Amino acid sequence: MDSYWSTYVQESKELYSSRALRFHNGNKELWLKALQIKDGMKVLEVGCGGGIFCHKIKEYLPKTDITGLDFDTGHIEYAKVKSAELNLNCNFVNGDATDLPFEDDIFDICFSHTVINFCEPKPFIKEQYRVLKPNGKIIILCIINSSNKPEWWIPTDDCEEKALFDRLWAEAQKNELSDIKKYENNELWYFEYLQEQGFKDISADVFAVLSYSPSFSDVSDEMAIDQINEGRLSELCSAQKAFRLAPNCMSSDEFNSMLEMINKRYDNMIDKYKNGDKSWDYRASTILAISGMK
Ligand SMILES: C[S@@+](CC[C@H](N)C(=O)[O-])C[C@H]1O[C@@H](n2cnc3c(N)ncnc32)[C@H](O)[C@@H]1O
Repeated sequence: MDSYWSTYVQESKELYSSRALRFHNGNKELWLKALQIKDGMKVLEVGCGGGIFCHKIKEYLPKTDITGLDFDTGHIEYAKVKSAELNLNCNFVNGDATDLPFEDDIFDICFSHTVINFCEPKPFIKEQYRVLKPNGKIIILCIINSSNKPEWWIPTDDCEEKALFDRLWAEAQKNELSDIKKYENNELWYFEYLQEQGFKDISADVFAVLSYSPSFSDVSDEMAIDQINEGRLSELCSAQKAFRLAPNCMSSDEFNSMLEMINKRYDNMIDKYKNGDKSWDYRASTILAISGMK
């Protein structure tokens, strides 16, 4: 166990706030249908990050006995603090998805959201089979399409911010810690692995969620501003992660002025929004939900 993910890939608060937009209350029915959870079930979320899905499920279905597990110590600490803040009784455990620290046959549902592609898939599936009760279900959620390019947040104008940005990222990428450990993986293989492991009634469903659409009429002012600010948090955290990877590529003053420029860009976006200047920008994710019964 370590804090690699929350230090160099996604900070806990960043992951939590981006997922809060994906799992907002307007999408509640979509998620609950995909997760197949009924109130009172014993549920495991594998690779729970900062714990937003566990918190939302506990809020919607209060009799659920829910446990979130993650390899990252920073995420688990964050999830515990957040549970206390929200006064939600969820269990959070540090552990490896490919060697689960649980007895056999104890969960009704095991689910994961964007985790299997970072793990060895066969042991990932095998371990969930082991800890599921007979007739328990595995739900594997994968993003199969996202409307935004990964670089959507990079400044494009030729300006001082872009020059600093380019310098910081060019250096950060030279640090081997910037490479997330990935396994050879493909969602089409998962059906075969589930069958090999003994899962029955294997099926797939697809749904899409909008996580960013501040100019659209069904989005309240509060939510629109939350959406814009989520982009701000993500950029600030990304810059901080890059600076941890390449601390010598610029002075602290330069780095702080870069953070100010990011903040200013987002302040301007909020001013434009408040003045009724529509951007019509949106981000949507298509999610594949693969399920099987033990
Ligand atoms: C893309 S994040 C998704 C987090 C969360 N499911 C969400 O959607 O907000 C991937 C997560 O998987 C966790 N992870 C990666 N490999 C793992 C493993 N072998 N065991 C447990 N967690 C793992 C990472 O620490 C990270 O929190």
